Amino acid sequence: MLIQVEHLNKSFVSRKRKAGIMGSIAGLFSGKKEYIHAVRDINFNIGRGELVGYLGPNGAGKSTTIKMLTGILRPTSGLIRIDGLNPEKSRKEIARKLGVVFGQKTQLWWDLPVGESYDLLRTIYKIPQQRFKQRLDYFVDLLKMEDFLGQQTRKLSLGQRMRADLAASLLHDPPILFLDEPTIGLDIITKDVVRKTIKELNQEQKITVVLTTHDMEDIEYLATRLILLDRGQVQYDGQLKDFIANYQKEKVVSLHLEQETDGTFLRERGFDLITEPKGQFLEVRLKVDESVSNLIATLSEHGARIQEITVGKQDLTETLKKIYAGKNLEL
Ligand SMILES: Nc1ncnc2c1ncn2[C@@H]1O[C@H](COP(=O)(O)OP(=O)(O)OP(=O)(O)O)[C@@H](O)[C@H]1O
Ligand SMILES: [Mg+2]
Repeated sequence: MLIQVEHLNKSFVSRKRKAGIMGSIAGLFSGKKEYIHAVRDINFNIGRGELVGYLGPNGAGKSTTIKMLTGILRPTSGLIRIDGLNPEKSRKEIARKLGVVFGQKTQLWWDLPVGESYDLLRTIYKIPQQRFKQRLDYFVDLLKMEDFLGQQTRKLSLGQRMRADLAASLLHDPPILFLDEPTIGLDIITKDVVRKTIKELNQEQKITVVLTTHDMEDIEYLATRLILLDRGQVQYDGQLKDFIANYQKEKVVSLHLEQETDGTFLRERGFDLITEPKGQFLEVRLKVDESVSNLIATLSEHGARIQEITVGKQDLTETLKKIYAGKNLEL
């Protein structure tokens, strides 16, 4: 196993404060402690070449986990092994094996031109000159970075900065890549460039990727496995396709009819109308494996002619929305 996590816990201690400024001053002296259990008894193994979507609502503990896996934060308890190494004890060795991108924060030198930051990384990681050049050319091309290599990081747009950070995390050929919201705030074209880069790295160079994102299109395009976190605990760990098969139990048929209808005859025949039909438009909910032919036959029996029909499956966003809202927690 490349990444091994056993009974991992992280609690933060904070002092309880009263409201207002006097409250925060008083809080400095009062001894009341409060614990935030950000990560609670997490277990998982990730093998070489996997691309795992690490998901969960805000505050679920995703970034906290990634910070522990990369040695930035120390676990309260539990075991972490990255390619057999303990991040607490072998930070340097582990840094060589990892690439890390935090979408919210750059790891480049703020005042240096991007290219000079890369030169520093080359020295730090002792990357041979030829290999460095080869890698750099590859990323400049893949991530379309030509135009801003000479710019200071602080002058980059968000999309440029994210691409620069992604390349920076990979110059030293790490076999593992941790990405914490790498597409946050990116326009659709830049998102596409970033996604394609991640996919290529995973498929062609067999880089193992752990990806945190709130954009389900990232997941649909990239991930094969999902680990779903909620309030610090793993709620689901399995293949993305099994997750979809398990949760997408229904589909919605949207109809545009040639005449107005109140849909009564459909209700009488046991169809589940989602909304009150509005004149010529109605929506019917079917089981995911139920054929639409019954519905069409019923409509035609009642003289309703179909102008347009679309069948939509519940997408990953809708599925997760239900799970995050706690309505569908049959995990
Ligand atoms: N340094 C810290 N001190 C105290 N509490 C913290 C600290 N870092 C994180 N937390 C708390 O731990 C919990 C998990 O935070 P974390 O950043 O891991 O969530 P997340 O899943 O990454 O959420 P998001 O999707 O919003 O990025 C939150 O309740 C957060 O307030
Ligand atoms: Mg986070």
